[in-house]
Amino acid sequence: MCGIVGYVGGTASAPILVDGLRRLEYRGYDSAGLAVHGPKSIEVRRAVGKLRNLETALSERPLQGNVGIGHTRWATHGRPSEVNAHPHVAGPVAVVHNGIIENHLELRKRLVEAGCKIASDTDTELVAHLVHLEVERGKDLESAVRAALGEVQGAYAIAVLSSLEPHRIVVAKSSSPLVVGLGDEGENFCASDIPALLPYTKKMLFLEDGEMAVLEASSVRVTTLEGKVVERAPRVIDWSPVMAEKAGYKHFMLKEIFEQPRALEDTFRGRLDRESGDIHGHEIGLSDDDARAIRRVVLLACGTSHHAALTGRYFLESLAKIPTTIEIASEFRGRDAVICEGDLVIAVSQSGETLDTLVAAKEAKAKGAKILSIVNVIDSAIPRMSDATFYTHAGPEIGVASTKCFSTQVANMLMFAIWLGRRRDALSADKAAELVEGLARLPQMMADVLTGTRQLVANLARRYVEARDVLFLGRGLSFPIALEGALKLKEISYVHAEGYAAGEMKHGPIALIDNRVPVFVLLPKDSHHERSLSNLQEAKAREAIVIGIATEGDEEARAVSDDLVEVPDVAEELTPFLTVLPLQLYAYYVADFKGTDVDQPRNLAKTVTVE
Ligand code: AGP
Repeated sequence: MCGIVGYVGGTASAPILVDGLRRLEYRGYDSAGLAVHGPKSIEVRRAVGKLRNLETALSERPLQGNVGIGHTRWATHGRPSEVNAHPHVAGPVAVVHNGIIENHLELRKRLVEAGCKIASDTDTELVAHLVHLEVERGKDLESAVRAALGEVQGAYAIAVLSSLEPHRIVVAKSSSPLVVGLGDEGENFCASDIPALLPYTKKMLFLEDGEMAVLEASSVRVTTLEGKVVERAPRVIDWSPVMAEKAGYKHFMLKEIFEQPRALEDTFRGRLDRESGDIHGHEIGLSDDDARAIRRVVLLACGTSHHAALTGRYFLESLAKIPTTIEIASEFRGRDAVICEGDLVIAVSQSGETLDTLVAAKEAKAKGAKILSIVNVIDSAIPRMSDATFYTHAGPEIGVASTKCFSTQVANMLMFAIWLGRRRDALSADKAAELVEGLARLPQMMADVLTGTRQLVANLARRYVEARDVLFLGRGLSFPIALEGALKLKEISYVHAEGYAAGEMKHGPIALIDNRVPVFVLLPKDSHHERSLSNLQEAKAREAIVIGIATEGDEEARAVSDDLVEVPDVAEELTPFLTVLPLQLYAYYVADFKGTDVDQPRNLAKTVTVE
């Protein structure tokens, strides 16, 4: 949560900082602010709400100066207000922060007793005062930040300015992400995430926990918090800035829905071995012997990633014949969950920063599990603590509602299950080859489904936009897709939606049904088809408005559905990739017709780094 950005160089910093914040706004949008070294002192502008409010404030009172820091906030300590907006200032010091200071109550008490006037309810302002006290004791900014952080417990990525040292920014990190961008033309940058820096540089240094850096126009010096110099080569990121733009779409979410065929091609690149009908699994970090020695897989994830992991359980059990359990990461933590010898833990996360998943994976690791992660953001916290990472390579996902990252996570789960199934002699060569071939053909099929169903689904969304409750039902692999359809609709359109295992409907939720409730029933031609069809009929008998998501040519489904969305006939394991698409489009169009903020829905943030 929260995004921070910094610039030091030879040109006006405010437009670069605002541009960076625009690309980080997905991390929070309760308020935004900048601090820039002006001709005499540090000047600050802050505004509550979206970034455009800060831009208005800047157009009324521009900021001049070539060194500055910026912040976009997702409120944790203190409600969204101007006084709680970052940057926070104490004496000559200004600070922006992403994270949570856990010992803030004790620090606040101590600082008040020391005579500090604390203006806001935030934990961040306390860091500004701590640094200021150290500067007053005669320390330079770097030493002052180092000393101040010695008193802080919790998660932070901070960027700090001092008007006494107007040519530098000091940054530091523990748990929250921080990337340093190395510019070519006497300028350097920092940010919470890669997309903020893509228009300016592709050369990036990823700080590790317990490290800090001093950024000047012509140098970047990285040290540990203890002062030991760190030598690390930058990584060159091959994402293009255009990947983080809307490319003519009205919203990032719609662009990302339509990007799925391309994203999957990137996910499959170098991994599908069509000649031998197998998966190239070198990134998985397990030898064939390791694969055979696994006794159980434990999947950890949250939200949409949890739904992707649920498909993984089906794949792993049916294709690799391996016992698999799945945990909502926040419920795994602190529960004394049992990790046994031979357990492989897979952490699934788009951002690689979700605190619940990160901490759960760390707990599992401490109990002796080997950790494999399925993550999108390169070098983020979860890959760094994992034994191996099978990246999804979906490219930057900006819309808060995850779409292309879901499909690519499902793809990685399926590729992993095929790879494991072959090594454990649980999956025949023929079936593996059929799946690999099917995966290779998927991107084109997904593109066809997207273009072929877009208008039909938009019409359905227009027709049922006022529905107050919507149900999504599915069995087998369609159950996680039902959950995902409901989550998408809830998070961006604020419509109450429930995803249910279709067979469970009769045990309670059927009572919700009347003639005002649209019920989406996922019933592709799979091993559950007949029973799903019965569930559809049960809903119909209670006068529900029934929308079938079915295989092309399914006349039985057509006969009993009020509306039918058809997808091509594919192997059962591949159905989720196609059936999820109309549900993503439905959620998108309902939200768009309602006029909600599709890419930045209320109360949410893309990266959830709080518990
Ligand atoms: C998805 O649309 C959500 N916004 C959310 O559930 C998300 O999937 C969850 O917070 C997990 O994030 P991660 O994949 O980055 O770990």
